[in-house]
Amino acid sequence: MRKTYKKRDFPVADIRRYLEPGPTVLVSSQWKDERNIMTMGWHTVMEFSPSMIGCFITGANHSFEMIRKSRECVINIPTDDMIEDIIGIGNCTGAEVDKFQEFKLTPEKAEKVKAPLIKECYANFECKVIDEHLLPKYNFFILEVVKAHVATSPKYPRTVHYRGDATFMISGKNVSYPARFKPQNL
Ligand SMILES: Cc1cc2nc3c(=O)[nH]c(=O)nc-3n(C[C@H](O)[C@H](O)[C@H](O)COP(=O)(O)O)c2cc1C
Repeated sequence: MRKTYKKRDFPVADIRRYLEPGPTVLVSSQWKDERNIMTMGWHTVMEFSPSMIGCFITGANHSFEMIRKSRECVINIPTDDMIEDIIGIGNCTGAEVDKFQEFKLTPEKAEKVKAPLIKECYANFECKVIDEHLLPKYNFFILEVVKAHVATSPKYPRTVHYRGDATFMISGKNVSYPARFKPQNL
């Protein structure tokens, strides 16, 4: 039977906590001789072919200018064994520290972009900035994934999802309903 819920008035600035189920990712970037990493929760799939991702990166982050100037980055998917790194990387700035060194992460050469992959992550998506129209007003980058590297197993990694209030959800239970879906590539 479906549930019913008693509801209360809720601050609109906090509704994001219910709309952030995507995995928290680590964005690596490179500009000239400098490399960097930031933690990011505010991203969305925009199209699957070409493969496009939209993401919000505040201009206050050091990564913002690095990605804007290089027009490239890598979206790395960490798993729950990296939760301390996810928090640490999201709470310091590349303007002051080399986060690869600080967090003992291994930069690996990407194929199609200059930004490094993070070896310890489950997957790495090499991205190019393809549209800057929404940057001045919304700090919103539109990226195209031009190359993807994904671990051969497990099929469903234990990803980390930020719920606000310093609380994370670790992905777990999967349920499949193939007979209910028409082949729409969704
Ligand atoms: C769980 C988590 C999610 C975050 N999501 C975002 C995000 O989506 N966009 C953003 O601009 N900053 C986000 N941040 C903040 C940046 O990761 C943080 O400001 C970081 O220090 C920026 O590093 P940088 O100055 O080296 O670029 C997040 C931080 C955490 C801990």
